Amino acid sequence: MSTIVLAYSGGLDTSVLLKKYVLAGHRVIAMTLDLGESDGTAGDGASAALDEVKAKALALGAYDALLVDAKTRFIDELALPALRANALYEGIYPLSAALSRPLIAALLVETAHAYGADAVAHGCTGKGNDQVRIELAVRALDPAIETLAPLRDKPLNRPDAIAYANANGVPISSTVAKPYSIDANLWGRSIEAGVLEDPWTAPPEDVYAWTAAPADRPSAPEHVVIDFAGGVPSVDGLTGAAMVAALNVRAGAHGIGRIDMIEDRVIGVKSREVYECPGSIALVAAHKALERLVLTRDELRFKATIDQKYAELVYDGLWPSPLRKAFDAFNASLAERMTGRVRLVLHQGTAVCDGSASPFGLYDERLATYGADDRFKHDAAQGFIELWGLPLELGARVARDAATPAAR
Ligand code: ARG
Repeated sequence: MSTIVLAYSGGLDTSVLLKKYVLAGHRVIAMTLDLGESDGTAGDGASAALDEVKAKALALGAYDALLVDAKTRFIDELALPALRANALYEGIYPLSAALSRPLIAALLVETAHAYGADAVAHGCTGKGNDQVRIELAVRALDPAIETLAPLRDKPLNRPDAIAYANANGVPISSTVAKPYSIDANLWGRSIEAGVLEDPWTAPPEDVYAWTAAPADRPSAPEHVVIDFAGGVPSVDGLTGAAMVAALNVRAGAHGIGRIDMIEDRVIGVKSREVYECPGSIALVAAHKALERLVLTRDELRFKATIDQKYAELVYDGLWPSPLRKAFDAFNASLAERMTGRVRLVLHQGTAVCDGSASPFGLYDERLATYGADDRFKHDAAQGFIELWGLPLELGARVARDAATPAAR
């Protein structure tokens, strides 16, 4: 008998796993996280549903069942550092699922320590990214803990899972018939599988739960002001998880954050992924806009390359890497000047900056203006261009002379 901490969603697969471990004589601690997966829609009884998940785990024979509200930790420790890096995988996906896995791993390890468990277990399959992210993070935190991935060792198909559940008293919820694989938290919602596996098939409207269909979006634009203090965003006085939840509702009503992409998974296959990430997409747009006002040209150019690398590290399961931590330190240094505000216009699927202001802004109207108060030294431009173009002129002359036989 061993003690196993199982990442438990309450769904069919992890319920079958839980029952199998219990029947094999193991002591199972079922751990369920609240990462705000239902906060994209205005109050739909999410916490009641999570209470039921906990009760279900105990009914299935779990030694203990934990429901952990990890929303604040998720936003403060994972999502906001990613925001500072404008982290979008392949330039598009805000990494909602990817960012949650290192936290799930940390909570599995912390719970394993609290209960003296030998192993942690998850329900990831062998094709996805999440197995990589969870296992690398567990190993980085405590290499002595074994990670079990029973669905990878022995894939469980739907009919077998249902048959097992029926034979062993595992209740089957109505969501078993769901045509998609869904993962959601405050930073976004991902929808995979079913008809989406054909990349030519447009996502049916029923894949979306947080974002309004084009016909249902308000015809009038709405403004939202995002304040930043040292890189930390707030909206109407709300910060952290509460702010992201509110933005999901507000931006979602305008259909912002719908993503449909072919994405490169860690294990080397391409997959078709649909997401809706209204809050995170709006926040990244605002953060980028403030950076354009505050950061120097060199900082912006350099940061763009490391921002891309940051997103790749998160996607690829390398959150625990020293390089990611070093990027966080770099971003924290720039964030000291990231104080100011950005006004976004939310309208028909887009969140666009139409105003920005900051005490650290490098925009100087007297230098930029074409009006009367112009302080720019126009006569210095000629000398600047003379020297800036010198190497080009020289290079062109040398190339021309070398190509002329008479000159040799
Ligand atoms: N493709 C996305 C990612 O790797 C979404 C994964 C969602 N996970 C899930 N178990 N449905 O980040």
